[in-house]
This record gives sequence, C-alpha cells and structure tokens, in this order.
Amino acid sequence: MRTLHWDPSMAVGVDEFDRDHEHLLGLYNELFAVCGTGAGAAEVKGVLDRLLSYANDHFRREEEAMRAAGYPGTGAHEAAHDQLVLGLSRMREEIEHGRAACPGADALEFLHGWIVTHTLEMDKAYGPFLNTRGNR
Ligand SMILES: [Fe+2]
Ligand SMILES: [Fe+2]
Repeated sequence: MRTLHWDPSMAVGVDEFDRDHEHLLGLYNELFAVCGTGAGAAEVKGVLDRLLSYANDHFRREEEAMRAAGYPGTGAHEAAHDQLVLGLSRMREEIEHGRAACPGADALEFLHGWIVTHTLEMDKAYGPFLNTRGNR
C-alpha cells in the first residue's frame, strides 16, 4: 500500500473530473498519513468525513454528466459509486463506535484498489462518450 499521486495516465478526458480525482487522491493520502501517525479517532473521523463528503459530491457530478449525455453505462457506474460510499460509511461507523482507531490495512487496501481501478476503468470509459457530447 502506498500513497497515490495523480498523473496523466489517469486522465479521463474531462478536465473537471481530472481535478476532482486529484483532490480525491489527496484525501486518500491524508487518511493514509493520519493512520500512520497514531492519530486519535476524532482526527481520523474528520478525514473520513471529508473524504466521504467529497466522494459523494464528485460521484453526483459524474452521474449528472453521464445522465445528461445519455451514457449507456450510467446504471452500473452508479452502482460502483454506491459500493464505495457503503465501504467508506462502514469504515466511519467502526471508528465512530470506538471499534477501531483507524480503518484496518484491508480497508485501506480496498480503498486504494477501488480508487485506482475505478478511475482507470469505469471513469476512463465515459471520457470519449462525454467528449463527443461537448464535455471536455
Ligand atoms: Fe466514477
Ligand atoms: Fe471519478
């Protein structure tokens, strides 16, 4: 597991979403960093809250753009977003209820893998379609 840095190989072809992804990677890195320093639950929960809130905002922006363009993969894409929101919500619950000080290594691994795979596969797939409808 390692920190994540946006690079052009992750570009999906829509500038707004590339900026969103860079920001999302930064929040993942913050969580990764805060969990490596033995921070208290309140601090960890604060980072998770911001990550969950930003992920929700970003997902809503993507979903609105896909729906507006009539992108055929919208339903499956939304289901994938929901899966991450559920995973993040569970991580937050664990911390909120004092069951853990930080998401475990497996949870961070899931998050890392989800962000990379989702961006490179599902997000990249909508790029050309949105581009043909003027969204760049
Ligand atoms: Fe997405
Ligand atoms: Fe995305």
